Amino acid sequence: MSGRVLLKELFNNAQSYIDQEVVVKGWVRSVRNSKAFSFIVVNDGTCQDSLQIVADANLPNYSALSSMLTGASVSISGKVVPSQGKGQTIELQAINGEVIGNVDDSYPLQKKGTSLEHLRDIAHLRVRTNLFGAIFRVRHALAQATHRFFDEKGFFYLNSPIITAVDGEGAGEMFKVSTLDPNKLPKNDKGEVDFTKDYYGKEVSLAVTGQLEAECHALGLGAVYTFGPTFRSENSNTKRHLSEFWMIEPEVSFATLEDVADLAADYVKYMIDYALTNCQKELDFLFNMPFTDVDKTHFETLKHVRDSKFIKITYTEAVEILNNCGEKFEFPTAWGNELQTEHEKYLTDKHFKAPVIVTDYPKDVKAFYMKLNDDGKTVRAMDVLVPGIGELIGGSQREEDLTKLENRMDQMGMDKSGYWWYLELRKFGSVPHAGFGLGFERAIMYITGMSNIRDVIAFPRTPNNCDF
Ligand code: 4AD
Ligand code: MG
Repeated sequence: MSGRVLLKELFNNAQSYIDQEVVVKGWVRSVRNSKAFSFIVVNDGTCQDSLQIVADANLPNYSALSSMLTGASVSISGKVVPSQGKGQTIELQAINGEVIGNVDDSYPLQKKGTSLEHLRDIAHLRVRTNLFGAIFRVRHALAQATHRFFDEKGFFYLNSPIITAVDGEGAGEMFKVSTLDPNKLPKNDKGEVDFTKDYYGKEVSLAVTGQLEAECHALGLGAVYTFGPTFRSENSNTKRHLSEFWMIEPEVSFATLEDVADLAADYVKYMIDYALTNCQKELDFLFNMPFTDVDKTHFETLKHVRDSKFIKITYTEAVEILNNCGEKFEFPTAWGNELQTEHEKYLTDKHFKAPVIVTDYPKDVKAFYMKLNDDGKTVRAMDVLVPGIGELIGGSQREEDLTKLENRMDQMGMDKSGYWWYLELRKFGSVPHAGFGLGFERAIMYITGMSNIRDVIAFPRTPNNCDF
């Protein structure tokens, strides 16, 4: 059968299709039989809405069609007619149809409700539910929004390497990459593993960031952004951590922390606006779902965030707010401590009830590459915190002074040798520059209201979990 029309096209131009003959192909969501006809509901993944198809009992292969089970794939031709049913403008009066791929009753996505936990176990199929269809269409839209936003601003897209010889964050949370046989490891004179025999002749890992390479390209192309997979072996079994996630990292030359704080706010607003414009049906579905942490009012919340200025406070001001708020926290809020999730949540969910940009953290809680403030105690860092999620973005102005950067790396006990190229940026035409990293899955969580990061990435990787 030719002349296939996608459901998105069909619903978007419903009036012009009335009385036309079309072919639709997709997966059966339900079949309801009565004496004279069958109602078959089909979704093809292109949009939130499914098409109701009325198959008359005297159709050529009615028995095959009416006995289909949920999950089967079909091709059905028919005439588009106005629908009597509520919530839909059109339906299809079937003329002919064929079952493409049948299922048996062991198909795990039956009509009855199921839990998100169970759906994670069948991640190869969960995208066929209305819920995950919505999430992954929103994910796609936010990726498109990202490329559009940075392209419109003149940034160049950099594909930073995934295999790397340096720890870009200096946090030691890297997955090793090796072709050595773990049962027959070559040893050197000292009895240590001899990595000179390994594939690259040295120890290498999966990248925890593309920032250092982005800095190289920013100091030649002016402004760049990366958008790629990021790997961290931190043992955090939380609703906000993955060991493989996607990060967007813009890096800008001749820029300060203030410049990238504004860029970060603009980017978040752009994504919100893009989702509100392009994913209305998906968001409407998600905000009416018991599975999300949000309800219909999330539309207003998102619009408000899109239309208002982000609040900006320093770390020191944040600590003052936390110390004076009368709230009992599990972790102490003394100056110098890292802000914990509970503190971030207090600031965004209770105190400001809005996203907050916190700047100028103590140097000891942040990475080696951040620019030291004149006070000698704090660095030009920022975290963008959002309600319900906590940290969405981490960024900073970079230390562009070679001596200061080397001193900091020495203080932190880092082996500088592998970073020779990074340090050379400070020797050859160094400029003030700044950037940030946005956790893509956290952005999807924030916008969709989904409360577990495992539900916004296709095949999540977390400690003890690497199926599919
Ligand atoms: O704050 P982070 O560690 O910053 C960097 O990686 C810098 N190199 C960014 C830069 O300045 N270019 O990570 C940035 C963001 C976090 O704010 C968070 O949203 C996300 O990445 N993130 C994670 N998302 C999911 N799972 C994890 N384990 C994450 N770790 C960080
Ligand atoms: Mg961070």
